[in-house]
Amino acid sequence: MKSSARDTTQDSAAGQERAPGNDSDFEVFDDAVAGDARDPYPELAAARKASPVQRLEMSNMPHDEAKPVFFVYRYDDVLTVLRDGETYSSGQIIELIMGDVMGRHIMLGMDDPEHRRYRALVSTAFGPKAIARWEAQLVEPIASQLIDRFADRGHADLVREFTFPYPTQVIAGMLGLPREDFRQFQRWSIAILSVFTRREEAIAASAEVKDYLSRILYDRRREPRDDLISDLAQAELDGERLSDEEIFSFLRLLLPAGVETTYRSTGNLLFSLLSRPDQLAAVRADRSLIPQAIEETVRYEAPLLNITRIATRDTVLGGVPIPEGSTVLPMLAAANRDESRWDDPDRYDIFRAARPSVGWGQGPHICLGMHLARVEMRAALNLLLDRLPRLRLDPDGDDPHIRGQVFRSPTALPVLFG
Ligand code: HEM
Repeated sequence: MKSSARDTTQDSAAGQERAPGNDSDFEVFDDAVAGDARDPYPELAAARKASPVQRLEMSNMPHDEAKPVFFVYRYDDVLTVLRDGETYSSGQIIELIMGDVMGRHIMLGMDDPEHRRYRALVSTAFGPKAIARWEAQLVEPIASQLIDRFADRGHADLVREFTFPYPTQVIAGMLGLPREDFRQFQRWSIAILSVFTRREEAIAASAEVKDYLSRILYDRRREPRDDLISDLAQAELDGERLSDEEIFSFLRLLLPAGVETTYRSTGNLLFSLLSRPDQLAAVRADRSLIPQAIEETVRYEAPLLNITRIATRDTVLGGVPIPEGSTVLPMLAAANRDESRWDDPDRYDIFRAARPSVGWGQGPHICLGMHLARVEMRAALNLLLDRLPRLRLDPDGDDPHIRGQVFRSPTALPVLFG
């Protein structure tokens, strides 16, 4: 999916040159890991029926070769796994996947009691109150500035020009990074997101981000400002504070956890509505429908299809024995379309009665950034509808569609307006 001449990254916020040969930042992002499946749902539905807890003989997911791997498809079983962090540990995520890139203190890979302490320290900064202040101050201006670049043009690709750069800029803004560094931060972010396909580059970028952030952290410890790094530097629980290493790990985790998911979900929201003009018209006319459109999108098209746990003891799930040490993969995308929980689950319907899905996870690790992600998605949709009259998919677009079997999001969003 090569972009046409509609390149928009001319105006690098940093005023820096782009690397020669790079069409845009998006092209540098290696998305191979997302997988090429256009519609994995029939297969997931068949597996949910035939073998709801499925033992795999082979898996290409990172795991201990000597131990079995299980996929979990039903909503109730997925919930059981996610809520029971003692039996289903997150601990080995660090060993198997992320440790060398994000550092050793990633909350996503911690178990209690360490996880509880850490989460308590960082959660105030991501609560609804804290996030509300970023909406007007940061999220809306960033969305608007991105739209400024193409608003007069009558057409755009909202993936390259909007959803892709948007969440990285929001995180950079929350961290209080100077605007001229956003571009570099975006590059590091892309390198870190490509960890599964270009590990060495990801590790190198991660080290650079750490050096860069350590200078900023040093400054903020001496002179706090109104930003996330200062909040984290000052966060205190029972007289305890986060160490520098803990702060760096957390900040780097925000790139995969907070950027990739939100970029993909914002694309999924826009694609889902743009390809259903009646539901788009309803939202356009009544913006109070946006929150339910967001939740339906995260249910119907979860950006992250599965997550990983390790069984800490012999157990039984859905009648299937799970030996200690097994890798257990809750399939969020299958659980979110479980017919025992939702009527007609394969229909995208923003009007359906709201029931929480597992798109945000559940239990102790439930998404810390959900309030921020909702604010970002809402601001994006509101501003695009406000500023781009008659926004619609370009009928001559190159068959844009949502794809992926690990992560999912649209290949492109060619739109017309005006
Ligand atoms: C629509 C967008 C998003 C979706 C669908 C999403 C989904 C998820 C899911 C499924 C988990 C649970 C992982 C697990 O249990 O192993 C999670 C955890 C997490 N998310 Fe999100 N996320 C989104 C946006 C964000 C944003 C914007 C941020 C922060 C800026 C963020 C930060 C985190 C963090 C730090 C965790 C780990 C929480 C913990 O371990 O206690 N996420 N997210």
